[in-house]
Amino acid sequence: MKQYSKEIQQLITEINILKKEKNAIILAHNYMNPEIFEVADSIGDSFELCKSAQEIECETIVFAGVHFMAEAAKLLNPSKKVLLPSLSAGCFMADTINAEGLKRVKAKYPNAPVVVYMNTSAAVKALSDATLTSSNAVKIVESFKEDTIIFAPDKHLCEYVQSQTKKKLIPWQGFCHVHTNISPKFIQKQKDKYPNAHVIIHPETPKRCTNLADHICGTGGMSTYIAKHPEIKTFLIGTEEGMTNKLQRDFPEREIISLMGSCINMKQISLENIKRALENNTYEINVDADIFNDAQKCMTEMMRRSA
Ligand code: 13P
Ligand code: SF4
Repeated sequence: MKQYSKEIQQLITEINILKKEKNAIILAHNYMNPEIFEVADSIGDSFELCKSAQEIECETIVFAGVHFMAEAAKLLNPSKKVLLPSLSAGCFMADTINAEGLKRVKAKYPNAPVVVYMNTSAAVKALSDATLTSSNAVKIVESFKEDTIIFAPDKHLCEYVQSQTKKKLIPWQGFCHVHTNISPKFIQKQKDKYPNAHVIIHPETPKRCTNLADHICGTGGMSTYIAKHPEIKTFLIGTEEGMTNKLQRDFPEREIISLMGSCINMKQISLENIKRALENNTYEINVDADIFNDAQKCMTEMMRRSA
């Protein structure tokens, strides 16, 4: 275990005791601060965590991530209590689309199925045919018989998937501030500084930047790629900077360098508010009964179509 201060070690011990008492598990997104990994039962990308939420026996799930992830966990685990330690941990990209906006696009393309990124609210999922994430996006799109598909909300992920499929994708113009606030000039400068490094970039990043990558994948795929390439010693990582903590933990002998800044939403989760969540059952995430079944179907379609 990494060396932490006495206060942090104390919090880790208290949280582990509370977890046992409450029959709770903690799911931590790859972007979390490293001390949160010490209390996590599963660490992964948004899709991997959805699967863990279903597989690990428990009464309560504490989601160390953002709101749409906790909602997705609730949709797949209606009988479990799902807690998000900070209610204001949202997602810039998920906020670029709402149910009304999606209804307008659907009216324009009445015969087109709708696929939506995990990074959407349950209300948006309820109006869609299947959820997807970076690791299964092409497979999900290809699984539809229709040739024209509405793809929301990330325009950059859409452009990337469009380059891999013959289907015609209708993009929503959403994006993530963290992944777009990076310039090709900066990436090139880092590549010049580390000429032997491989560059891995998240597909939420604009094409002008992913053009400079050796590999494009979601956060889970980054671990797989590094594991597959023991001959490469240095990696430049184009996604939220917290990812480098996770990769450095898994691959201590490699040099892992971040190309991006941090997500203020993800960084709202702390050991302190995880402990409070377990003590006070805060903040419980529920999905309105009138949209629950449709949003759940959108999630289970992703599981079915990506199996
Ligand atoms: P992943 O599904 O690749 O973990 O991405 C989620 C996310 O919010 C990236 O910013
Ligand atoms: Fe949302 Fe971007 Fe933060 Fe990911 S990094 S949670 S897409 S705001």
